[in-house]
Amino acid sequence: MAPSENIPSYENIIENLNEGVIAVIPSLEVTVFNQAAERMVEFSRAQALGRNLAEVFAMDRWLVEMMRMTIEGGKLFSDYEETLHRRISPPMPVAVSTTQVFDPEGNLTGAAVLMKDLTGIRSLESETLRKERLAYIGSFAANIAHEIKNPLGGIKGSAQLLAKKLKDGSLREYTDVIIKEADRLNRIVREMLDFTKTKKLRKKNLNIYKVLDAVISLVEREEGGPAVVRRYDPSLPAVTGDEGKLTQVFLNLVKNAVEAVGGRDGEVSVSTRMVTEFHIVAEGSKEAKFAEIEISDTGCGIPQENLEKIFTPFFTTKPGGSGLGMAISYRIIKEHGGFLKIESSPGKGTRVMVYLPVGIEQT
Ligand SMILES: Nc1ncnc2c1ncn2[C@@H]1O[C@H](COP(=O)(O)OP(=O)(O)O)[C@@H](O)[C@H]1O
Ligand SMILES: [Mg+2]
Repeated sequence: MAPSENIPSYENIIENLNEGVIAVIPSLEVTVFNQAAERMVEFSRAQALGRNLAEVFAMDRWLVEMMRMTIEGGKLFSDYEETLHRRISPPMPVAVSTTQVFDPEGNLTGAAVLMKDLTGIRSLESETLRKERLAYIGSFAANIAHEIKNPLGGIKGSAQLLAKKLKDGSLREYTDVIIKEADRLNRIVREMLDFTKTKKLRKKNLNIYKVLDAVISLVEREEGGPAVVRRYDPSLPAVTGDEGKLTQVFLNLVKNAVEAVGGRDGEVSVSTRMVTEFHIVAEGSKEAKFAEIEISDTGCGIPQENLEKIFTPFFTTKPGGSGLGMAISYRIIKEHGGFLKIESSPGKGTRVMVYLPVGIEQT
């Protein structure tokens, strides 16, 4: 027989649970506050024990109310989803269950709450949702694009013929509009088809600066835009990727940045650095080292309500925009085992960070 101190005690079990456990006596004074609770609430046990629950959860009155209802009314909550405010980190989605606590004689001694961190689950849910939506929109768009492509060719061809036959030169103006608009539609349709096709990546070790320089000189050739500032880390190793696809990604991102600055005074910059903090490794990608390529601008910024939509195909705030740039870029980066983050303050500017794995496929 193992000596009794080697058997996990209730205390040890509670202490080591991944869920936050907090217990109070009927006056709502805190009597149990496990490690996970400390971590989630960002409040130390030493400070929490003996305090009134309302002081510990000053910003989360809902929890205090739930515990009061559990103790006084015997109302139990099960996986109740709420947002927990934390001292330092951003708020966290949680699922909360409560229960009354009785002693062996059946007297009510207080209540306990179990708190689960839903952060991972939430992002997983939205990720699958996005994938499904993308797959659906993808096949839908491919069908429409095909249907549009052929008649469009006919319209443009006929307009060109008509333009040649027209004796009255002033009528040319109209055929020119038809041709120009047909070209524009054609471009959108091509982007749509591009988006829906999944071509296999042709990966190799590449010098990302070659890609970035090519993109920047392409963008700078267009008139009226701001100059693009380069802040390259010279020690960055080769990244593993498809040159054509990555060119497409950075072209989309730098163009968006330039468009966000518009005619105003402002700056667009492209900077790179190595990322050695392993905890940022994205879901689903192998543990690897990442190169970070940041495209930042001091342009119009993105309001919070749009930030969630910018990866959705066809979401655009620009007249004549296709709304596919971000959706395509997101997908290409994911296919590379990398990830993409965006931060923006409306009126101030936007930072888009692309993370790409470096040299795992060294030959
Ligand atoms: N750097 C940026 N600054 C401000 N808004 C941006 C930026 N990048 C993207 N956006 C917003 O996201 C939307 C979608 O971008 P995108 O998918 O490239 O499509 P498009 O550029 O054709 O509109 C844009 O219309 C714009 O509102
Ligand atoms: Mg764009």
